[in-house]
Amino acid sequence: MERRKFFALGLAGMVGSSLVARVASAAQSALSTKLAGSVYYTRESPGRWSAKVAGHAPVVDVKGGQVTVTTPHEMNGYEHYIVKHTVFDKDMNILGETMFDPTQAKGPISSHDLKGYKGTAYALSMCNKHDCWLTEFSV
Ligand SMILES: [Fe+2]
Repeated sequence: MERRKFFALGLAGMVGSSLVARVASAAQSALSTKLAGSVYYTRESPGRWSAKVAGHAPVVDVKGGQVTVTTPHEMNGYEHYIVKHTVFDKDMNILGETMFDPTQAKGPISSHDLKGYKGTAYALSMCNKHDCWLTEFSV
């Protein structure tokens, strides 16, 4: 049962990421679409989750094309956890993705090799309770 729930949430995450990608691809910046703050959330547009910014907006560290994405969020089993991180290029093509196992105590941190890419990129973090959060960064 728990395994089924885990895979169902993963599928929901893929659908959510795809929606964000299609919506944002038509805009200059995914942070400036009218869906930021309603369908997905950003530090600048937290919408209904304004009290949740600090624990949900992905934090990105770039060192020589190596990107580390961290969500400062608890991993409390299937009760409350970060489902995955996805990294997109400026056109919302997926550059990397990491699924997290909520049964592991290890925090939601992912590493992505973007040495072959230069420009604007996005990190998406998906919480099972507080939806998808997007952070823009440059490589
Ligand atoms: Fe959350």
